[in-house]
Amino acid sequence: NLLILDFGSQYTQLIARRVRELNIYCEIHPFHKIPKNLNEFKAVILSGSPFSVRAEDAPEPDLSSIKGKLPVLAVCFGAQYIAHHFGGEVAPSNTREFGRAKLSVIKDAETLFKNVKEGSQVWMSHSDSIKELPSKAVRLASTEDVLNAAYRIEGEDTFGLQFHPEVYHTKDGAQILKNFLVEIAGVPQTWTPARFVDLTVAELKEKIGNQKVVLGLSGGVDSSVAAVLLHQAIGENLYCIFVNNGLLRKDEFSSVLEQYKGMGLNVKGVDASSRFLDALAGISDPETKRKKIGNTFIDVFDDEAHQIQEVSFLAQGTIYPDVIESVSVNGPSVTIKSHHNVGGLPDFMKLKVVEPLRMLFKDEVRRVGAELGISNKLLGRHPFPGPGLAIRILGDITPEKVRILQEVDAIFINGLRKWDLYDQVWQAGAMLLPVSSVGVMGDERTYEKVVALRAVESTDGMTADWVDLPYAFLQETSNKIINQVKGVNRVVYDISSKPPATIEWE
Ligand code: XMP
Repeated sequence: NLLILDFGSQYTQLIARRVRELNIYCEIHPFHKIPKNLNEFKAVILSGSPFSVRAEDAPEPDLSSIKGKLPVLAVCFGAQYIAHHFGGEVAPSNTREFGRAKLSVIKDAETLFKNVKEGSQVWMSHSDSIKELPSKAVRLASTEDVLNAAYRIEGEDTFGLQFHPEVYHTKDGAQILKNFLVEIAGVPQTWTPARFVDLTVAELKEKIGNQKVVLGLSGGVDSSVAAVLLHQAIGENLYCIFVNNGLLRKDEFSSVLEQYKGMGLNVKGVDASSRFLDALAGISDPETKRKKIGNTFIDVFDDEAHQIQEVSFLAQGTIYPDVIESVSVNGPSVTIKSHHNVGGLPDFMKLKVVEPLRMLFKDEVRRVGAELGISNKLLGRHPFPGPGLAIRILGDITPEKVRILQEVDAIFINGLRKWDLYDQVWQAGAMLLPVSSVGVMGDERTYEKVVALRAVESTDGMTADWVDLPYAFLQETSNKIINQVKGVNRVVYDISSKPPATIEWE
């Protein structure tokens, strides 16, 4: 319904996200591949770009089939592109214009700027400015530094915005997008999780047919939702593999496996704990730990995938942020990627890849999961790193240390649930420190391990702050840990933000 032409802006995905928040379906296509079936689109958004329209190598799409024919909202570079190519002028700004600004002298208060008030905050990020508007354009708004902050071309539904309506810092951005899409272009707001499920299941059926698919489940939200979607599409031809690397939370392997079976998935649980722990023996360096775990995972998965006859596809729970950042926060995809550099690809990597959640953001994955009937408990799970407790045991890893940390972590996490704090925290866990400290229990002097508890709030894991957990909770948790977990005599709470610290200690 909506076409987003991407000129390479870091914000293009955000446009898509804002649009889908309006329950509108959109497709992003690169500027040099304008789709042929334009009659299937009701409107077009032109994205921003790292390029200047004046640069020799700037994108030069042919907009003749779009401009004046479909409603167009041109953002930043897009707005400059139209000005530059249709009778206006773009020149370097006198000052760099980044950050917040206030809209003034707003016109079109009944269409594009409906419900947008004078002084509304917008977000700028550009070094070129539109000095002359394109032909037949009227100015719709200015800011203190930017005369032509918004324009409309007379006789067309073509609008240009110098600022970014898609970023949260543009306070009325969602309203402006809605005005354009719904009021002006009349795009239907029918893009709901239910519809996503219907369309995706139909697409998967079509693409996969009677062939077999293998998928690595991690216990996390993304791979679980991907599995249930695929299961709806192809049923028993989906073969899920859930590997216990011995570094999961306490009882996680069995409880998650139970949960998956309850959901009707065909899951093979593979307990490869000792293979992982053997590979990790004596290793303290965090990056080496990650590599060993990644490689072992690949080996185990490859062995298991070979047990399935004639499998054609590898399914992954890749989501949008993984695609843009190329670093996955959850699940095995990150380890699979890093293995690319290690030489010959394992056989399962020669399979065709299917990634049904590739277009979704995390909160959308959760909405789709809820639509599929996946329990809130599973959907609300905190992120958990692929290398698991290995990067929460500082220094080398032994089965005894894993046991200690599993016990500590379980007390902490169960406590958060009991105190109704779990959902207020974005991620929580415990770290086992490589130091011992002196304590006293009864009349005995002890010399045992220190654990650190960490609970953070965040939206995407890129920045985070520690959570101000109630003292009474910390007190109860600390007491329980020291009384119940043999080998620990001291508990500390991590009060560092990210940056400069990170969420994990390794
Ligand atoms: P940091 O420690 O970088 O963590 O602040 C940010 C988020 O990423 C997770 N994390 C990982 N996830 N493999 C993963 O799959 C890893 O090697 C890894 N390291 C960190 C971390 O748990 C947090 O959610």
